[in-house]
Amino acid sequence: MNTVNPIVISTWYHGERANEAASNVLQKGGSALDAVVAGAAVSEEDPNVMDVGYGGLPGENGIVTLDAAVMGPGGRSGSVAGVGGVVNAAAVAKKVMEETEHAMIVGEGAKRFALKKGFQEKNLLTEKARQRWLEWEKDPEKSSAWLSEQSHNETLGILAMDQKGDLAGACTTSGAAWKIHGRVGDSPLIGAGLYVDNEVGAAAATGAGREVIAICGSFLIVENMRRGMSAHLACENALQRMIDRHGGDVEFQVGFVALRKDGETGAASIMNPFEFALFHDGKNRLAKAKAMLDKQTSFYNIYR
Ligand code: GLY
Repeated sequence: MNTVNPIVISTWYHGERANEAASNVLQKGGSALDAVVAGAAVSEEDPNVMDVGYGGLPGENGIVTLDAAVMGPGGRSGSVAGVGGVVNAAAVAKKVMEETEHAMIVGEGAKRFALKKGFQEKNLLTEKARQRWLEWEKDPEKSSAWLSEQSHNETLGILAMDQKGDLAGACTTSGAAWKIHGRVGDSPLIGAGLYVDNEVGAAAATGAGREVIAICGSFLIVENMRRGMSAHLACENALQRMIDRHGGDVEFQVGFVALRKDGETGAASIMNPFEFALFHDGKNRLAKAKAMLDKQTSFYNIYR
């Protein structure tokens, strides 16, 4: 059988290390699905990545809850939303996909499911994240942040093609900082934060969840690629639709990454900066995506 050169593309600076783990799986002949879950685990377990997994910023009540989804080449998906006390939300989402008849499990039920499947319980709130939350609590302006969909968000979206040419993706996040307890973003919603069609391509999102949900962002990008757009143009078209919905006046950040079945990749964002990590031809590199607007996001990097 002819083998394909593996590819991984993911969001943000921490995607670079996630890609390393994912590409290790792929280079040993592992599946795209196992690769993206291995990549997701790197960001989820790193306490310094404050938007994903352990160390993620909490909601308004100081409790960290996670959202994640996976989608494989067979067209099946699994996701969890608002799950606390377990680090590897993407791996839990994979269990939902592979070991239940369901597509999504939320809240306490998701935690109970994870523990039953052998995941260890862990307090996700680090001291660093707790201090940020206490600062926010004291801030007299906090009500405006409370309403924000992206008081800080560098969600990991990761897409891979394995040696068989099969595609898979994962999206994992602690969601909008200071979110109302129970708020769910785009990341665990198939078609919004993540979509994979093994015949066409895959896409994943980061940024203001509400906006990605409103245009079914990742599904739209895959459909754009089905109609023949390059991965990059497919991302730009989805972002333009978001911008148009707001009459061109946009103050939120969204970034997309996309991977076409022929191995072509793309990434784009509304504002600067948005980095993505690309593993291709055996090399892993971090690059800056092209922004649609000549604007700088004020949400970037505030807690790194
Ligand atoms: N994009 C992640 C979120 O809005 O929760």
